[in-house]
Amino acid sequence: MCGIIATLSYNDNISNDLVSALERLEYRGYDSAGIAYLDNDFSLQRIRTVGKVQLLKAAVEKKHIKSHIGIGHTRWATHGKVTELNAHPHTADGVAIVHNGIIENYQELKKRLVNEGYIFESETDTEVIAKLIASHIKSGEKFFEAFKKSINELAGTFAIVAIYEKEPNILLGAKKGSPMAVGLSPDKQSGYIASDAVALSTLADELAYLEEGDIVIVKKGDQFLYEIFDPNGRRIRRKSVPNKVSLNDVSKNGYESFMLKEIFEEATVARKTYTRFNYDLDISKFDNISIIACGTSYYAGAVAKYWIEDIAKIHVDVEIASEFRYRNPVFAKNSLYIFISQSGETIDTLCAMRLVKEAGIKTLALVNVETSSIAREADFVIKTEAGVEIGVASTKAFVAQILSLLMLCCRNIDIETIELSINAVLNGNYDFTGLANKIKHSRSLFYIGRGVSYPIALEGALKIKELSYISAEGYPAGEIKHGPIAIIDENIYTMALAPYDKYFDKTISNTQEILARNGKVLLITTNDAKNFLHGIDQNENVECVFLPANNPLYLPFSLTTFTHLLAYYTAKAKGHDVDKPRNLAKSVTVE
Ligand code: M6R
Repeated sequence: MCGIIATLSYNDNISNDLVSALERLEYRGYDSAGIAYLDNDFSLQRIRTVGKVQLLKAAVEKKHIKSHIGIGHTRWATHGKVTELNAHPHTADGVAIVHNGIIENYQELKKRLVNEGYIFESETDTEVIAKLIASHIKSGEKFFEAFKKSINELAGTFAIVAIYEKEPNILLGAKKGSPMAVGLSPDKQSGYIASDAVALSTLADELAYLEEGDIVIVKKGDQFLYEIFDPNGRRIRRKSVPNKVSLNDVSKNGYESFMLKEIFEEATVARKTYTRFNYDLDISKFDNISIIACGTSYYAGAVAKYWIEDIAKIHVDVEIASEFRYRNPVFAKNSLYIFISQSGETIDTLCAMRLVKEAGIKTLALVNVETSSIAREADFVIKTEAGVEIGVASTKAFVAQILSLLMLCCRNIDIETIELSINAVLNGNYDFTGLANKIKHSRSLFYIGRGVSYPIALEGALKIKELSYISAEGYPAGEIKHGPIAIIDENIYTMALAPYDKYFDKTISNTQEILARNGKVLLITTNDAKNFLHGIDQNENVECVFLPANNPLYLPFSLTTFTHLLAYYTAKAKGHDVDKPRNLAKSVTVE
């Protein structure tokens, strides 16, 4: 959450790099954005705007900035409202900083700094960092020492970058709990620190990722260089890896949004995941499997529970990471622990994994970003092949996750059929706009399903919630009558996932119970169910869509693509920005 970029250069046009990186980083937070830089007289300047990076860009362009050093930030608010005063960078006596994370002891530090005479202008936890560094400089420390001392006093999680007007040729960065990478431009004319590789696509082709507690200094002298120090202050070399994020990855390629582009990649992603899957982990040697994740990744685990128990006959638990990590879990013997994360930076999943590692148990991570913290800390890693996912709503990554999990328990799959069934939804004649216009007025929505369609219903409901802001609940179809049916009336739409599988008749009777209470239903079924609908399709409150008939094992794929497109079009029908839904950010690096 929050995006960070910083640059030091031999050129004086760094504002272009800062703004273009912030545009790419916007998926990490878009409440406000800002930059701070040293002008040609080495005096610290700052521009901040509330709202999307576009507004900051316009403000920056007006200034015709000439500067060789600067920092930038896109904010996802944690402490303090979305205002210009709370926007980063924060400053104090010529020091400017940007921060990602949460400073847990900021109240205590703030009290001390207020006693020293510092006046705070924001409600953020971040501002204490700038004032703390300034206070150490005032006591006689050089910038680097002041920065180090300050970092040692902070509790919580952070990625921080700082500049100081009296030492205009260095950038300082520190990482604890939030990701940070450093790199140089190919012509070695500029150095960068950023919160992820996406920010630095087109800017740096090789990156070194900081480890927990590292501090980095980027320096300009005769030669451009960066040095990394470990938590004990020892200079250390962190491996440099190619920055694989290409311009293509961070462009919409003609689609009107990243989300639509990414949904349209779902079939290709499935094929790529299948082709590149070369892990020979034999899960049959485990008695139990625990899958731990958050959000959509958790639902991928919930899909896998059905498959693994059915095919491999191994007991599977699926757990929400934020619950698992705080409830003193009892670790089962001979158990495989799998952690699923698209970003690889979700703090709850990362901390849950650390807890398992501390218990001396080996961990397997299923991650999409191979340079992420979870990928680097796990004992074993399966890389999902979704490619860069920018849309805040996770779509193609879910497809890569469920296919990888299916391949863990069943190597002999028919990828052709999976691919065809996804493409049939992508290229079929489904009237998504018409359907979206119907459901968008619903006071709230239900998504129901049985068997493996149930976790897909959960995923479908999450997508509706996060993009359309309509309250939507995913429910096991058989559970509706145990309470939720009380909500049903003529103003409530239910999406019933009822492919023609062994659960079909049961789901149809649960759907009838909803219709008997005047509820409206979108019945999402398959072509082979047409002769078995017993007239439900004739009910005036039912809208039917038919997906391709398929082997029940592969049904989750076409159902997923359908629910993703439905959520996309519903949000669009409501006029929402699908790539930047309100209050959210892509990678959740705070608790
Ligand atoms: O990066 P991760 O897969 O760990 O992220 C987990 C969730 O934050 C994520 O899936 C979130 O729920 C998405 N916005 C869902 O579309």
